[in-house]
Amino acid sequence: MEINVSVGDLFNQSGDTLVIYAPKGRRQLSGDTAAADKKLGGLIRRAQEQGLLNGNAGHLLEFPAPRNARAKRVVVLETGDKIGESTSTQIRTMAATFARALRGMDPGHVVLAAPTSVARSLSAEEATRAVTEGFVMGLYRFDKHHTRAADKPRGVVGSLTILASSTRHRAATERGVTIGRAMAEATNLARDLGNESANRMTPTRLAEEALSVAESNGLECQIIERAEAERLGMGSYLSVSNGSVEPPKFIVLRYHGARRRRNYVGLIGKGITFDTGGISLKPANGMEAMKWDMCGAASVIGAIQAIAQLKPSVNVMAIAPCTENMPSGSATKPGDVVYAMDGQSIEVVNTDAEGRLVLADALAYAKSQGATTLIDVATLTGAMSVALGNVRVGVFANNDRVWRQLDTASGATGERYWRLPIDDDYNRQIKSDIADLKNTGGRAAGSITAAKFLQAFVGDTPWAHIDIAGVMNAGGDRGEWTKGATGIPVRTLVQYVLDRTR
Ligand code: BES
Ligand code: MN
Ligand code: ZN
Repeated sequence: MEINVSVGDLFNQSGDTLVIYAPKGRRQLSGDTAAADKKLGGLIRRAQEQGLLNGNAGHLLEFPAPRNARAKRVVVLETGDKIGESTSTQIRTMAATFARALRGMDPGHVVLAAPTSVARSLSAEEATRAVTEGFVMGLYRFDKHHTRAADKPRGVVGSLTILASSTRHRAATERGVTIGRAMAEATNLARDLGNESANRMTPTRLAEEALSVAESNGLECQIIERAEAERLGMGSYLSVSNGSVEPPKFIVLRYHGARRRRNYVGLIGKGITFDTGGISLKPANGMEAMKWDMCGAASVIGAIQAIAQLKPSVNVMAIAPCTENMPSGSATKPGDVVYAMDGQSIEVVNTDAEGRLVLADALAYAKSQGATTLIDVATLTGAMSVALGNVRVGVFANNDRVWRQLDTASGATGERYWRLPIDDDYNRQIKSDIADLKNTGGRAAGSITAAKFLQAFVGDTPWAHIDIAGVMNAGGDRGEWTKGATGIPVRTLVQYVLDRTR
């Protein structure tokens, strides 16, 4: 979707659909809403009197444009909150709900003001960014495999013009579009990679997608094949691929934004393109959801795309150890012992705890490549949904500063994180009788013992682990979330990196 910025009076714009903001519960219309009401001969006032405005953010009412306007229609968009008091999260959600509702009326070229009057505590950049994110995320859909026209959702938003409140605010408004678009498109990329079926989104295909992201955005891309991974000693990662006929692909993308390597951020994403559990086979019911077990990999690929587009002066590597987890005659068996590239031995007591096995080598590799901060993202434990449901994302960190920085970044993106403990006392649960570690710690504190396992490969490097198992997919369309992969935590990772330049 094309998005541009313009300055000037809304009713002089030549789009198809002009948007008027209407805050909730105002007896007296004011500002732009009052001006628009006048142009429409009092129709908004009348709609209000007749109870046609319901006060819900994102709800819309359609009117034909006044005779002297160049547009086709005027749409009144309810902003839901008291005038001027919306947060960027409310604007993002409202814009997404609105964009989806608009699609049904085939709105063509849509023109709306940067919602600074709706959210007076936000800068023009922040308000515009929230609207842009809402539109681009809300309009996302994955409909590649519908071959019948009747099954294809209809209607598109052709293009979007955002009006800066004055020439003085034009540059900030443009920045808002640039950042919002990069954030949302990166999220949608991660969603596309996640939603694609596992027979198509194999490790090989993910590597191809990473290469194409690298080519379009000027990133370095390296795919470590099985033979090279063997030479590097990645026995933990490779043990997960033993049962599969799909070749494993260890993806490395690099972004160089700073001359010095003082801060080199490593983003590491679990890339199990399908998790059957292996020999510790999962039950059939709901197993199809395990196509999303590569959402961590998709997130770091999405994040580094946005980073490449926004060009912060930081160095970043995105690492995605990708493989299927399948049962077969050549698969890893419970009780097998494997060695990670840093030399630690692991007893694989449950082949379904495979995420930590691929991440062990990926974390060790990132360290060996000079990463000074490690952030891993993984659909790691079902226990995460038990603890936090699908609302908050669990974070584990060995470093208070990294946690605070992630928490701050999430404040700007509206994603909600929650820190969980990693006391060393939990290590007892993952001590093996015959190796350095075993890969499961029993039923108690399942998400924490998984984090403790990862921590063994991190050492003293500042590290955070984001377990997205509870939030990898949404059950339906709501606000900026659309059914299927969510693309969490793409925007927060990007924000975290942008914040590191200051
Ligand atoms: N990919 C799963 C975790 C998962 C489950 C993510 C449901 C999203 C939804 C992971 O590989 C797994 O199987 N974890 C096991 C660990 C256990 C064997 C210690 C789990 O959570 O049951
Ligand atoms: Mn598993
Ligand atoms: Zn898994």
